[in-house]
Amino acid sequence: MPANRFHLSWFLQGSSIQAWGAPWTGNISEQWMNPTMFLDLVRAMERACMDYILVEDSIYIGQNWKNSREIFLTNGMSVPRQEPSVVATLMAAATTRLGIVPTLSTFAYHPYLTARIIGSLDQVSGGRAGYNMVTGSSDLSGQNFGLDQLPEHDHRYEMADEYIQICKQLWGSWEPGAIVADRKSGVLIDHTKVHQIDFKGQYYSSRGPLNSGPCPQGQPVIAQAGGSAKGKDFAARYADTIVCSAKGVDAMKAYRDEIRALMTKYGRDPDTCKILFLISPVVGWTQSEADEIQARRVAEAASNLDVRLAQLGWSTNIDFSGFDLDQPVGELSTNGHQFSLAQFLRKAGKSTLREAIVDHSTSGYGLSLVGTPASIADQLDECMQAVGGDGFLIALPDVSRRSVATITDGLIPELQQRDLVRRAYAHEQLRDNLLEF
Ligand SMILES: Cc1cc2nc3c(=O)[nH]c(=O)nc-3n(C[C@H](O)[C@H](O)[C@H](O)COP(=O)(O)O)c2cc1C
Repeated sequence: MPANRFHLSWFLQGSSIQAWGAPWTGNISEQWMNPTMFLDLVRAMERACMDYILVEDSIYIGQNWKNSREIFLTNGMSVPRQEPSVVATLMAAATTRLGIVPTLSTFAYHPYLTARIIGSLDQVSGGRAGYNMVTGSSDLSGQNFGLDQLPEHDHRYEMADEYIQICKQLWGSWEPGAIVADRKSGVLIDHTKVHQIDFKGQYYSSRGPLNSGPCPQGQPVIAQAGGSAKGKDFAARYADTIVCSAKGVDAMKAYRDEIRALMTKYGRDPDTCKILFLISPVVGWTQSEADEIQARRVAEAASNLDVRLAQLGWSTNIDFSGFDLDQPVGELSTNGHQFSLAQFLRKAGKSTLREAIVDHSTSGYGLSLVGTPASIADQLDECMQAVGGDGFLIALPDVSRRSVATITDGLIPELQQRDLVRRAYAHEQLRDNLLEF
C-alpha cells in the first residue's frame, strides 16, 4: 500500500434542492421530492470508490436575515429539506460498499431513537452506517422542539457526552452471538446475551436493551466536526472520522496534530480516526475552462451579497442584514458554530464585509482548487504530504449530475492513476474501509 494514499468522501448539504437556478441542475425544482439525483450521486461515488457520503442536516427554515424567512424561501436556501435518515436508507439501497452517514442533532432525537435509527441503517446497509453527531447551532431549530433556546455552546458538548455514551451502550447491549437461530431448540435469541443498560444521566437516561438488535459493525462509525476547544476534545474521545473546515495547509496540519495528540492523551491510537478536510474543487478539462467557471461564481456571489450573507448568518447564527458592507467585519461572537465564524473572521482580516463575503463564498473551503484534474491532483498530493493525512471531504456549491462527474469521472480517475486513492474497495463495512490505510 503506498504510504501517501488518502480517503475521499462527500459532504452533501442536506437533502434539499441543491443549487436552485445553477447551471445543469435539470428539472430539480419539480423532481426534488424523489431524490434520484442523490442516488445518482452515491452510485457515482461508489464507482469512484469513495469512503462515505455525509448528509448534513438542520431542522428549521432560516430566518437569520431581517428576522424573516423570505430570502431563504424565495431562494430555496436549505429548504425544502427532508429527514436525512429517510434519504440515507434509499442511498444504502442504491449502493453496496459506500458508507452512509446521516446527521442527527442531539437536541432533536433522544439517544435511544438515534441508536435505533443508526443501528437499523447499519443493518439494512450491511455494516456501512455512520452517525454524524451534531449538537445544533440555532435557537430557531430548538424552538421547533419546544425549547426557547438551545443550551449554551459548551454545555451542549457536556450533554453530548452523556448522549454518546448511551448510544454506545445501547449498540453494545447485544453481545456477539446473541442471535442463535437454532431451529432444533426453537431459540432465536439467547436472552442472557441481551442486556439492560440502566443509564441514568444528568440530562438523558435510558433503560435498554436496544430492541432493534445488534449492528453488523458492532458500533456504527461516529463522525464529528468539533472545531472549538470543547468540540475538538469531544471528537478526540469519540470520533472515528472528523470532518474539518480548516483553511490552508498550516491550519489543517495544526488541527490534525492537535487531535492526534488529544487522542493519545485519551489512550486512543490516532490512526483509528480519519480526519477529512473540506474542499470544493473547480475542475475544468482545461485551465481556462476552470477559470471561467470560477469567474462566473465570483461574479454571481458579488451580485447576490444578501443571499451570501444570509447563508453565512445561517451557520453562524448572526443576522448580517444591518451591517455596513463597506466597513471591516470587526469582532463577533456566536452561540452557533464558533469555528466557522472564527475561520471567517481570520480570513476576513481588515477587508470589508463586501470583500470578505465574496471571498468566503468562492474561495473553496480548505484550499483554492481551480484547475485541471492533473493540476488539482498535484495540489491534493502536496497538501496531504505536508499535513500527514487523512483525506478530503468534497462539498460542491452547485451539485448537479454534471458537476459531480467532474469529481467522480474527472478528478478521481486522475488520483487513482497516481495511486493516491483506492481503485477498489478492500472491505464490505465502512469502518474496515476507513482503517484500510
Ligand atoms: C463538514 C462539516 C459538516 C457539518 N455538518 C453539520 C450538520 O449537518 N449539522 C449541524 O448542525 N452542524 C454541522 N456542522 C457544524 C459542526 O457540528 C460544529 O458545530 C462546527 O464544526 C463548529 O464546531 P464547534 O461547535 O465545536 O465550534 C458541520 C461542520 C463541518 C465542518
